[in-house]
Amino acid sequence: MNLADEQAKLTLNGNDHDYPVLQGSVGPDVIDIRKLYGQTGAFTFDPGYKSTASCESALTYIDGNEGVLLHRGYPIGQLAEHSSFMEVAYLLLNGELPSGDELADFDNTITRHTMLHDQLRQFYQGFRRDAHPMAIMCGVVGALSAFYHDSTDISDPEHRTISSHRLIAKMPTIAAMAYKYSIGQPMMQPDNSLSYTGNFLRMTFGVPAEPYEVHPAIEKAMDRIFILHADHEQNASTSTVRLAGSSGANPFACTAAGIACLWGPAHGGANEAALNMLQEIGSPDRIPHYIERAKDKNDPFRLMGFGHRVYKNYDPRATVMQKTLREVFDALNVNDPVFETALRLEELALNDDYFKEKKLFPNVDFYSGIILSSIGFPTTMFTALFALARTVGWVAQWNEMISDPGQVIGRPRQLYTGPTQRDYVPVDKR
Ligand code: CMC
Repeated sequence: MNLADEQAKLTLNGNDHDYPVLQGSVGPDVIDIRKLYGQTGAFTFDPGYKSTASCESALTYIDGNEGVLLHRGYPIGQLAEHSSFMEVAYLLLNGELPSGDELADFDNTITRHTMLHDQLRQFYQGFRRDAHPMAIMCGVVGALSAFYHDSTDISDPEHRTISSHRLIAKMPTIAAMAYKYSIGQPMMQPDNSLSYTGNFLRMTFGVPAEPYEVHPAIEKAMDRIFILHADHEQNASTSTVRLAGSSGANPFACTAAGIACLWGPAHGGANEAALNMLQEIGSPDRIPHYIERAKDKNDPFRLMGFGHRVYKNYDPRATVMQKTLREVFDALNVNDPVFETALRLEELALNDDYFKEKKLFPNVDFYSGIILSSIGFPTTMFTALFALARTVGWVAQWNEMISDPGQVIGRPRQLYTGPTQRDYVPVDKR
């Protein structure tokens, strides 16, 4: 980071205070207020962190106004078009695109960690068959901490690397097993001769009694969907992982915390909610009614898959997602009427003053559910797939934080509005 020439000036109680202004490689300036409380006794107030940079990071950059998303400088559109999920994972973890040998080595390493400790299978039996896969993921991923003690010393860079690789590698196995458990089919063991994504598809849709052939177009589409979800700067779940990790918690526990946060409908759960919404709308003629509901302040209904805290323009991931959707439909020769409803809803919303004024555009979750559904995933698996892919971002961000020698525990303060000190009153006197 660089120091800007100018400082920010704050006047409080008649006193002037100067604060350094920091500049990243690109993006808004950041006022460094770390000394504010010590100097003035005042806090800043920013619930939801709308104006707060919670950390320094070199991984991902978003320009929400322009609809730009870069991983280590590379535009998401280029990565989605030319790269693979394994390559993007390497890039996020290591900072540079791998050479051919580096990629082969990385792929081989991840492949070697795909199996789960056999005892972990018993965890699944503890869940009801209708358990949401995200509930299972929270539990099983958190439980990894109890199985892989040899990689939980976070002060050891080698442990950090191994636990990161384990998390990335085991997540498809964990997610696929959650699915198999829910439908009562035998769990499939990984086949390490397949690609990361091909292996996941086989563990999800294959059965032991029959050979499973990975459909190349579906494998490519799924891999691209994983790329689109790999990382997204300091979003809610990533910030959760960082905050959990800032206390020194192990990466398996931190990732379980990230999964819990991702589950919410305002975050990763939106893909499930978006498809449910499109199915409820049913046909294009019913769209205006739902648009009116979304605009009604007295109705809690929102257009799911629309709007974003950072993007005030088209989410670049949604552009790729829409293209991928068409490719999948062509490959599978399907034509789901829900897609027509989605296209029409997008068109009507983008031409509506409410959505224009508030700069609400389709986000990554608007189209992803339709693709995942056409591939054969039930809606409950959508967020689990998001978690699988986002694990790469979570561990990369966690590694970046822990490797920083200046890292401290995250501990926000508050604007207290409760009662001031008062004396305890015995129960018979209240
Ligand atoms: N439908 C209708 N109105 C909306 C919507 C929507 N989808 N999103 C925002 N608004 C309105 C909101 O009511 C508010 O209006 P007003 O200023 O009159 O109070 C204004 O737009 C600003 O919204 P906000 O909730 O203050 O903005 P935020 O940055 O806190 O929330 C969001 C961002 C993503 C939670 C929100 O847009 C939303 O709930 N979208 C639907 C859920 C969704 O698609 N989530 C996936 C996000 S992308 C994937 C991910 O990152 O996980």
